Amino acid sequence: MIRYDFQQSVALVTGGTKGIGRAIVMALLDGQARVVVTYSQDDVAAEVFLQALTPEQKQRVNLLKSNVASRKDVHSLFEKEPITLVVNNAGILQQGDFQDLSDEQWDRTLAVNLKGPFMVGQEFLKHGPDGGAMVNISSIGGQIGGNKAPDYAASKAALISLTRSLARLGTTNNIRVNAVAPGWIKTEIFSEEQLANLQMEAAKVIPMGRLGTPEEIAGAVLFLLSAEASYITGHCLNVNGGLYFG
Ligand SMILES: NC(=O)c1ccc[n+]([C@@H]2O[C@H](COP(=O)([O-])OP(=O)(O)OC[C@H]3O[C@@H](n4cnc5c(N)ncnc54)[C@H](OP(=O)(O)O)[C@@H]3O)[C@@H](O)[C@H]2O)c1
Repeated sequence: MIRYDFQQSVALVTGGTKGIGRAIVMALLDGQARVVVTYSQDDVAAEVFLQALTPEQKQRVNLLKSNVASRKDVHSLFEKEPITLVVNNAGILQQGDFQDLSDEQWDRTLAVNLKGPFMVGQEFLKHGPDGGAMVNISSIGGQIGGNKAPDYAASKAALISLTRSLARLGTTNNIRVNAVAPGWIKTEIFSEEQLANLQMEAAKVIPMGRLGTPEEIAGAVLFLLSAEASYITGHCLNVNGGLYFG
């Protein structure tokens, strides 16, 4: 992966203890950033994440249990650190039959996947520095819909819209805001059974014939955060093996 220079940066990665978020954190650490990493409930995964870091990396990581759907938690993140880069990565997905989708699940999904990035974005536009950058992790589901999780698809579609609004708002203090829309990526967001099915399906329906890796998403995110993307804002970058081109 290209190594960018993030030595002067303090990055916030929400949901950075697993999957795509963890790969983004590791890439940022590789670029010498300091990173604030959040998670909301899985203490075991958080400990595994922490123990895998070198002593030097640990000094540049601030791991916090912080719920992105809580205004109080989000507000306090920006009180603690002078954050210069943000990755709104935390997200939840629960697949099921549409007729079983409850009001509670709808509200929970929208609270984490959309209200969280709204609150983080509001804080970042208030506190973030000139030249700051933010990337929101959307999804191919937000572009083509999803019959197994319409709540998730709606949240991710709205996140692309929110990205464009924040990009316009961010120009007043030179903060760039972009989105990345991953296709099917091998992470723990899926159960082992779901992953096995996706893997078989991928060979048939994804033009590149395989699932993506968290590191392939991290590469796109780091580019958008970096100075190499200094004239890009309001963009949604597809990283999906050709599954959707729009
Ligand atoms: N995997 C895919 O195929 C795929 C495709 C498109 C888009 N995405 C998006 O990519 C992002 C990362 O997905 P992933 O596959 O890496 O998921 P994952 O493996 O399930 O990891 C999700 C991370 O978010 C944290 N998290 C969940 N709810 C949170 C909350 N309320 N506050 C703070 N942190 C929270 C989790 O920690 P705790 O469990 O401890 O809270 C974990 O660290 C998500 O936004 C997802 O929608 C994934």
